[in-house]
This record gives sequence, structure tokens and C-alpha cells, in this order.
Amino acid sequence: MKTLNIGLIGFGTIGSGVVKVLEEKKNELQQKTNCEFRIRAIADKDISSPRCVRVSKDVLTKDVHKILDDPEIDVVIELIGGIHPAKEFVINALKNRKDVITANKALLAEEGEELFRIAAESEKEILFEASVCGGIPIIKTLRQNLFADKIESLSGIVNGTSNYVLSKMEENDWEFEEALAQAKREGIAEADASLDTQGLDSRHKIVILARLIFNANIKLEDIFYQGIENIKLEDLRYAREFGYTIKLLAIAKSFKEGTGGVYVYPALISEKHLLSKVRGAFNALSLKGDVVGELFFYGKGAGMLPTASAVVADLGEIVRSPGYQATRLPVKKAKLKIKKIDELEKSYYIRFLAVDQPGVLAAIAKILGEQGVSIGSVVQKERKEKEIVPIVMMTHYAKEKSVQKALAEIDKLPIVKEKLAIRIEE
Ligand code: HSE
Repeated sequence: MKTLNIGLIGFGTIGSGVVKVLEEKKNELQQKTNCEFRIRAIADKDISSPRCVRVSKDVLTKDVHKILDDPEIDVVIELIGGIHPAKEFVINALKNRKDVITANKALLAEEGEELFRIAAESEKEILFEASVCGGIPIIKTLRQNLFADKIESLSGIVNGTSNYVLSKMEENDWEFEEALAQAKREGIAEADASLDTQGLDSRHKIVILARLIFNANIKLEDIFYQGIENIKLEDLRYAREFGYTIKLLAIAKSFKEGTGGVYVYPALISEKHLLSKVRGAFNALSLKGDVVGELFFYGKGAGMLPTASAVVADLGEIVRSPGYQATRLPVKKAKLKIKKIDELEKSYYIRFLAVDQPGVLAAIAKILGEQGVSIGSVVQKERKEKEIVPIVMMTHYAKEKSVQKALAEIDKLPIVKEKLAIRIEE
């Protein structure tokens, strides 16, 4: 029987989960692979706090070089997150001829090009199933199972915290702040929750997926992102009246030959679409391949065991297909032309807060009309003379550029106090 010697860097929640799975499933994993997965060393700054698993003291170290410089270690699992020193550890491991498994989406999104180049030069692998949507096996699916397919579109709820916040707003009639406070209390949000709610975490994840989908080295900076912080409870209520819900989506889309679009934004989606049924901190991905057709994935995108499942799956990959190179992100320069957000055409939900007086609607409609934006329906429910009331419009298909231009003009009207446009995803 073979032995795979593992060095684990980061003994937090996910790290403990990996050790737990390797221990509890020892025999099963051995039978499946004819290999013993042996944890030779675990490095962490804190080696004294109790974990959900017990490990021998001899295995624990505060010195990461006991892992990086140990010639007996075959694989380094990096689970500390963040860019530095994770990047240096990964480079060091690759140069010392160890395969690397990581759950670090930020690291791959921001430094992937350099890391995958070093992996190729070192003839070693970086495996990263756990980096996107935790337990949902989307990386291997895109890389291997959908080998025959061109992915025409992928829309995903890839940030559990934002989805939890939007779900709680809807279910409990809460405003954003209240729902976010609850997400923090439940330990769902990142330490810096703005990464979740501003769409940055989703952007890290979709750039990794998009690089696989388009087989191109898409730059993080080329991806438009927008978060959910401006969405109010009333937006969710109006959306529901029109037969929609609001979700933070990460989108990768193929347009005509050689052009692709990668975006993160909140969108109105029909209540009939499966993605609208995804509640709480769950993740989901809806994709369409030109050969396979439509696929839908649903599951836990974070947490100890779902993420550990993905990390251990990568260990299995290393043992089953050494040198397979199936998991590398492309390092070649993108041939893909990225369609910018202002080149899109969509329908829009637009909410204004405006003074309730004659001529307001006409003034708003005039500016939209001048920009060629056609209004499908208008709702103004409240009647509070000379006070601020919400006015909601649903537009027909319109150019993003025209909508943004119109909104900038409308913003100058003293009678308009607030505006919010949300794209409608068909
Ligand atoms: N903050 C992330 C989320 C955790 O809410 O989905 C997993 O990357």
C-alpha cells in the first residue's frame, strides 16, 4: 500500500474537519485508493486550544518550515486563508516539489497566474475544489466532467452570507442591517462582512470559475461587481409582487465568438427559477453547456464538513491521477474579449424615493424616454402629499448605458431623493 504524507497548514475549523474526516474514514479511504493518508505535521500559530479532534502532540508545530522543508511530505494543505503569508507558503511548497491543496479563493483569484506558473515549472499541482462553493463539486465538474462542453452560461449564488441576509429580510420583514447582524451572530459572515455583502467574495469565486469556463486567464479587475447593501425590504416586497425575488448572482456568460461576460450583481429572478428557491446560507449554481444542456447544483458552500469533503476529494485526486494536470488554471493570456457591464441590455427594476407632487412621474419618465428607456409598468402605492414616497418602475429591455445615463440625470432632480436600479435576469 502507498502512503501519502500530508502537511496541514492551518488547524482551524476546516483543518480540524479534514483531520476528522481522514481519521473517521481511514479504512474507507484506504480501500478506495489503496493508499494511506497520513498526517505527518500540522502547523498553526495556536497549537494548544482544544479542537473537535485529538491529534498527537508530536504532529503539532508552530514552525511551518517543519512542513515546507520536510522532504517526506508529499502534499501541503493550505487552510490559513488570506494572501500573505499563504502565498509564500504555497510557493515554497511547490518549489520543494510538493503538491498543494488550498481552499483559498482570494489567493487564487488574486495571485493565481503566478502560482499556477510556478506549479507548472515545478511539475506539481495546485488543487482547489474547496475554494469555490465548499461542498459543491463544481471545479472538477467544469474541469473534467464537462470536458466536452462549451459553457454557455453559469449563474450562481456563491456567497452564503448574502443569500442568508436576503432570505432573512424576506422571511422576517427585516431591513438589511438587522439581517446582517443575525448572520454575524450565527457566525456565517466573514470576519470582514463587507467581503460578503459588497460582492467581493463572489467576485473571487466567479473569477476562478470563469477561468475554467473560458479557459483563459481572466483578470479580477475586469469583473464588475456590486453588492446588496442598498437593497431594502421594500425592494424585496415589490419584487415579490411582480413575481420575482432578489438574489446576489455571480454570472459567467458566453456571448458571440470570443466574447464573454463575468459579473457579480444583485438581480431580480423569477420566482419560478430554481435559484429563487435557494434560501439561507446555501449556495447553488445553474449552468448550461452546449452538449449536456442545463444542470443545477445545490449545497453547502461553507462550513467545516462540506469544505473538508472537498479538500479530501482533492487528496483522492492526487493519489488516483498523479501528474494528471487536470486541475491547473490556465496561465495563458486571455484571448477572450470581456463584455463590459455598460454594453449589456437588460430589463430593470428601478425604485425612486421622490416627493409626492404633480409632475414628478412625468419628469422621471421624460428623462428615461429621452434615453430610449421604455417603461413597462409603474407602481406608486402611498399617497403622502409633498412627502417622500417610493415609485417603482419595471422597464422593457434597455441598454445599461442608457439606464445609467438616465439615472444620473434623474439624480439631479431636486424632487428625487434616492434611486436604485436592479437588473432583471431572464
Ligand atoms: N463568506 C463565504 C460565504 C464563506 O458567505 O459564502 C465561504 O467562502
